[in-house]
Amino acid sequence: MSQHSTAPAPTSTNVTATPDWWRDAVIYQVYPRSFADSNADGMGDLEGVRSRLPYLRDLGVDAVWLSPFYASPQADAGYDVADYREVDPMFGSLLDADALIRDAHELNLRIIVDLVPNHSSDQHEWFKRAVAEGPGSPLRDRYHFRPGKGATGELPPNDWESVFGGPAWTRITEPDGTPGDWYLHLFAPEQPDFNWEHPAVGDEFRSVLRFWLDMGVDGFRIDVAHGLVKAEGLPDLGTHDQVKLLGNDVMPFFDQDGVHEIYREWRLVLDEYAGERIFVAEAWTPTIERTANYVRPDELHQAFNFQYLATYWDATELRSVIDRTLDAMRPVAAPATWVLSNHDVTRHATRFANEPGLGTQLRLAGDRALGLRRARAATLLMLALPGSAYVYQGEELGLPDVVDLSDEVRQDPAYFRGAGQDGFRDGCRVPIPWTREGSSYGFGAGGSWLPQPAEWAELSVEAQTGASGSTLELYRTALTARRVQPDLGAGDSVEWLTAPEGVLAFRRGRFVCVANTGGEAVTIPAYGEVLVASGELTVVDAEEAKLPADTTVWWTTG
Ligand code: NOJ
Repeated sequence: MSQHSTAPAPTSTNVTATPDWWRDAVIYQVYPRSFADSNADGMGDLEGVRSRLPYLRDLGVDAVWLSPFYASPQADAGYDVADYREVDPMFGSLLDADALIRDAHELNLRIIVDLVPNHSSDQHEWFKRAVAEGPGSPLRDRYHFRPGKGATGELPPNDWESVFGGPAWTRITEPDGTPGDWYLHLFAPEQPDFNWEHPAVGDEFRSVLRFWLDMGVDGFRIDVAHGLVKAEGLPDLGTHDQVKLLGNDVMPFFDQDGVHEIYREWRLVLDEYAGERIFVAEAWTPTIERTANYVRPDELHQAFNFQYLATYWDATELRSVIDRTLDAMRPVAAPATWVLSNHDVTRHATRFANEPGLGTQLRLAGDRALGLRRARAATLLMLALPGSAYVYQGEELGLPDVVDLSDEVRQDPAYFRGAGQDGFRDGCRVPIPWTREGSSYGFGAGGSWLPQPAEWAELSVEAQTGASGSTLELYRTALTARRVQPDLGAGDSVEWLTAPEGVLAFRRGRFVCVANTGGEAVTIPAYGEVLVASGELTVVDAEEAKLPADTTVWWTTG
């Protein structure tokens, strides 16, 4: 892999040194292709992100996580990386990345980049050479190449299925035109899995870490952090269920104990750098307790809480997942994390507009007004919990998923592989509206790579800025309150208060949060002064208040 000599000089991390900043940080996910387009090609880019940094500073977030912007054929929207040290021309250049990092630091925003170590693109130099050099190429050992089963090797080497549907193996054609070995890809065929048993793979990724740390990034989100190590011998699953991301047993390709050795080595690299830089794991594990293994003191800093993301708007279930999360994180002294939306799941405004039990991949609009009311309430609940919270671009505008995209515009590779469980991810990836008018509602001066619904004009940043009661102003108020109220975000526990059925109430120092997940208004004690509410709360008198259905309120008790 080439070492580019054109990388800009190292950037210092000059954000305010706040010890343990990440323990209660609010981290905003930018999906670069859908955030802001600076060159009118219909595709977002790094310069677009840079131009909108003041918006993110004013929103009140602490850090920005950018989904991949590296050189990539875009078979999986950039999660198929061809060169880990280069920016794809579609997104800009290394100089643009450098300018973005510098400007963010000037604004006291930290930058977290995405690292994709489970697989590369099939257009990565190593993989191209592994195929082109024919059987016996030493580069094949850096991936999982295996002969097929059956009389002529016509069957895949084992029974694993890809997360995107279909077999997790593809057979190559050898340079002489004959059918050859098969290679493993847990995702699309264009995403061959690395063999992490090969020392060159580890060496390469430690070097890639240093490249971006030298560029000045403040951390890494690790893609498929649970998938790098595969069970010895790649055993068949047999009659076992095929891949399910949550709630199943440890699979031979996910959450193998060997992954933790890799992260201990990475932690040593990271800790050589000043400025409290962090790792956050995208680790789908069977239980929260197994997620906690990734954030032991000598491993990673945070892991996404997908059990929380997968929980419906229901007081009993929410209380249970909150307790389980805090109980699991306390022994390893890692902050809990909370997340409701990202680029892989239906936005929470649409999930909560529908019945429970439909999963996180929906094509149904549901009751939009109900979904939005619940989404706002769910966000206030999330932002009141101890630990770090993730906000996905556009949720601060209350955006729903776009559920009626036509098949011709869809790009999610899972959609084209039939049985995959993530087939409808384009609906949460539609470019966000900045202005009421104009081409692509201010996303850029050209079009937009996925069409935006006309009703998004009134959901734009422009339409919501300064509008009393808008979702954007709700986020701004809540994030500002979180910055000035030390009891919000900090700590590792909540004190539950007695509450009517369907209602969650907890105290954290001088702060009380009450969330009504039920369909009826409830009478609750007036705990003090209202800091912020997601709906129209009526304070009856000094003793009592009426909390509407699907509404959350924050109180300060003095
Ligand atoms: C998780 C990413 O979030 C998703 O978008 C991607 O398709 C897979 N990992 C494979 O890289």
